[in-house]
Amino acid sequence: MLRSITVKVILGIDTSCDDTGVGVVIDGAVASNVVASQTELHEPYGGVMPEVASREHLRVIQPVTEAALEQAGVGMADIDLVAATRGPGLVGALLVGLNYAKGLALARGVPFMSVNHLEGHIASSLVGSDLQPPFLSLIASGGHTSLFRVSAWGEYAELGRTRDDAAGEAFDKVARQLGLPYPGGAALSELAREGDPAAVTLPQPLRNQTGYEFSFSGLKTAVATLLAKQPDVSHADVAAAFEQVVVNALVDVVSRAARDSGVSRVSVAGGVAANRLLRERLLADTELQVHFPPLELSSDNGAMIALAAHELTVSGARQPDAAELAVDALPYFPLAQQPASVGR
Ligand code: KG4
Ligand code: ZN
Repeated sequence: MLRSITVKVILGIDTSCDDTGVGVVIDGAVASNVVASQTELHEPYGGVMPEVASREHLRVIQPVTEAALEQAGVGMADIDLVAATRGPGLVGALLVGLNYAKGLALARGVPFMSVNHLEGHIASSLVGSDLQPPFLSLIASGGHTSLFRVSAWGEYAELGRTRDDAAGEAFDKVARQLGLPYPGGAALSELAREGDPAAVTLPQPLRNQTGYEFSFSGLKTAVATLLAKQPDVSHADVAAAFEQVVVNALVDVVSRAARDSGVSRVSVAGGVAANRLLRERLLADTELQVHFPPLELSSDNGAMIALAAHELTVSGARQPDAAELAVDALPYFPLAQQPASVGR
């Protein structure tokens, strides 16, 4: 175990996908969190265009950083540590934030620390609660759907993940089939309120599994087949049935993992955490103590990277180290290499 150190002011940067996020954390509390979203740039493509994302990160990273410092009421000279996402994500996008952060750290003569993007999502779980390990962390976004058991800071076991599409990606793809704009998760969920989930039958993926995996691509194909066979089907009913199947899958896995592991505290992060039905269903499970961090910290942002750096240094799990300046971006960067096991 490394010794615990306290770093007062941390600048965190995330450019893993299509949001340029920079935040400042002071003594473990979020002092600012500025996110420049690229959604409109990618909308015409119906998904994130990697090259467009990298160029936009390059264009805005400096002003976003200045805004984050200003909102936190600090200057670059006050920063004690710069942290940035190393992966997983789009490599060209990651390189922008990672290299910018290293440059700032070198120029200021302060340490640099690279952080796993998923570790950032897990750290964001702390905001607004006194949650401490052990807890389960469900990360459900446009790029990821994984369930982790967090035993301690720096000790994560991935209990399960999606075999194919991420939950948010499935929402976006089905929303597109229903003629909704990208990203369509929130719009699909709104449409679902007017529909009857029982009016349409969709397959429940991995219904009989005893593990903790997810699979959403078959569902997307089932919706495409249904729309082709029944062009007059109510889109609201399809949206309601689809949302119900996805939420059932997420809730079933989380509830079972909590029962099997004896860990009843659960945090939910990622853009899909905004889903109304998911929130209702998880909060209705009285055996779980569920925490949803504020939405602006739940989707991709830079403050969560600074929060992770804070937790890792304070807990003694990691320390900034000069060798970190040599790390490269990792588009594939599993947080936990351990085999899936929920062990108590
Ligand atoms: O974490 P996030 O903001 O960013 C990335 O994954 O890059 O997640 C965005 C995802 C999108 O797929 C979006 O459609 C989905 O979260 N999402 C939702 C809702 N709000 C956002 N999905 C379902 N219901 C929602 N209310
Ligand atoms: Zn993310």
